[in-house]
Amino acid sequence: MKALILSGGKGKRLRPFTYTGAKQLVPVANKPILWYGIESIVAAGIRDIGIVISPETGEEVKAKTGNGDRFGADIQYILQSEPLGLAHAVAIAQQFLQDSPFLLFLGDTLLQSPLEPLLTKFQQQQLDSLLLLCEVNDPRAFGVAKIDENGKLVQMLEKPKDPPSNLALVGVYFFNTSIHAAIASIHPSARGELEITDAIQYLIDTNKKVEVSMLQGWWLDTGRKDDILSANQIILDDLLTSQNLGEVDSTSSISGRVQIGIGSKIINSKIRGPVIIGANCHIEQAYVGPYTSVSDHVTIIDTEIEHSVILNDTVITDIHQRIVDSLIGQRVSMKVSPKRPQALRFMLGDDSQVEIM
Ligand code: DAU
Repeated sequence: MKALILSGGKGKRLRPFTYTGAKQLVPVANKPILWYGIESIVAAGIRDIGIVISPETGEEVKAKTGNGDRFGADIQYILQSEPLGLAHAVAIAQQFLQDSPFLLFLGDTLLQSPLEPLLTKFQQQQLDSLLLLCEVNDPRAFGVAKIDENGKLVQMLEKPKDPPSNLALVGVYFFNTSIHAAIASIHPSARGELEITDAIQYLIDTNKKVEVSMLQGWWLDTGRKDDILSANQIILDDLLTSQNLGEVDSTSSISGRVQIGIGSKIINSKIRGPVIIGANCHIEQAYVGPYTSVSDHVTIIDTEIEHSVILNDTVITDIHQRIVDSLIGQRVSMKVSPKRPQALRFMLGDDSQVEIM
């Protein structure tokens, strides 16, 4: 059994972050989203992993994630020159997949439940495909399944305007080799992508054994800022344990579950967990409130912040309003300037978003 993780694509919905980095590397509770997927695949006993990467962000994914040693896996990288669809990504990975059954896992997906029971079902029932579904309020942004009165999957549609059900495809699919002939028989959709849903429809139409399982627990597709903040909140709630490897001075107070990384200094500040602070951060005269993740080498002085994710090497000083619900990138500088006239001055990249009241 192998696993193929898709970590290519353009990440348009997470701009400006995805101009300079892969959306799958955006950290949630200070760990790249992609790594949660790798860990759960390894926990299910699959160690032979291929990761599909793009020319724009592939080198960063490779450099950060490595050859798999840190996960107890063997990772190979497969370059997809253009994001021509999920089925296209499978097609270009054939040399890696060979004639092995495989798990297809979307690299921007976070799942609470373990993959092992699904793998067992797929193998024991000798299925051609097993798909994971979840009920959602608005299925129009997803692959959608139509199930008949006997619980049999009869139709798969990609992002339908008029969905036949509210059962969305979660980014977890098990396939055996029959998927390759199915992909070879489909054509690009109206949006120019080779859709895995069309290949699944081909499996259904040719009477292959395709089953579905309903998702247990939470699932997050981390395509947008608010998805990242929700994912961060859930992971901090579920997984964070207290640990202090840094220095907290006697005028600071720490409450709730808080993790502080090596070399970080907390001076005259209040930290109210769940909060994770990476290594070598400087936090002074500040309030860091619940559901905040602060990556390595971040400085926060004279500022209040909560329910936010801050990436590495960012400096925030003297912001006299509380910052909330924010995703702040790498090497960002936010400060109050002594310059006159008193005014807001920005240097913001394309697609940045600022809300001021
Ligand atoms: O999140 C679940 C949904 O994921 C499913 O319900 C949909 O059926 C499925 O198409 C997918 O929709 P998204 O719009 O979320 O797909 P996205 O373009 O974000 O791509 C998903 C992952 O696959 C992401 O990590 C990028 C990667 N990818 C995508 C494409 C189109 C590739 O590696 N290569 C590609 O060509």
